[in-house]
Amino acid sequence: MALYSEKVMDHFMHPRNLGKMEDADGIGEVGNAKCGDIMRMYLKVDQDTQTITDASFITFGCGSAIATSSMATELIKGKPISEALALSNQAVVEALDGLPVQKVHCSVLAEEAVQAAVKDYYDKHDIAYDHTIFGECGGNCACCHQHD
Ligand code: FES
Repeated sequence: MALYSEKVMDHFMHPRNLGKMEDADGIGEVGNAKCGDIMRMYLKVDQDTQTITDASFITFGCGSAIATSSMATELIKGKPISEALALSNQAVVEALDGLPVQKVHCSVLAEEAVQAAVKDYYDKHDIAYDHTIFGECGGNCACCHQHD
């Protein structure tokens, strides 16, 4: 059996939604200290419906990181933010028909990049959010400002 599924190869060779988004509402950048790969995710959000109308990415990394970023953008486009936040790396892997075990960590970057971009959107638009989703905010989020 081939190491990589046809879908992984397709998204690696022909990444969807590749490139910087000039007017992004939220940008998330995450990295893996071990391999040095970096993923940046851009989101456009409809403020009224809190729906992700567009998503794009730039990834400096391995083929699996590129394929998972590509698939993640496809999976969150047109979806409510709540669904994007619930996107797990496992769901991305399943949508790609699997990844070799030693490459599953690359898909974690995709999950984290989506969450980081949503957090950036919330911060930039002063929208309060559940701290348990993102962990420590460093006192910079809208809900912390409300306590000031
Ligand atoms: Fe670094 Fe794939 S090896 S994300």
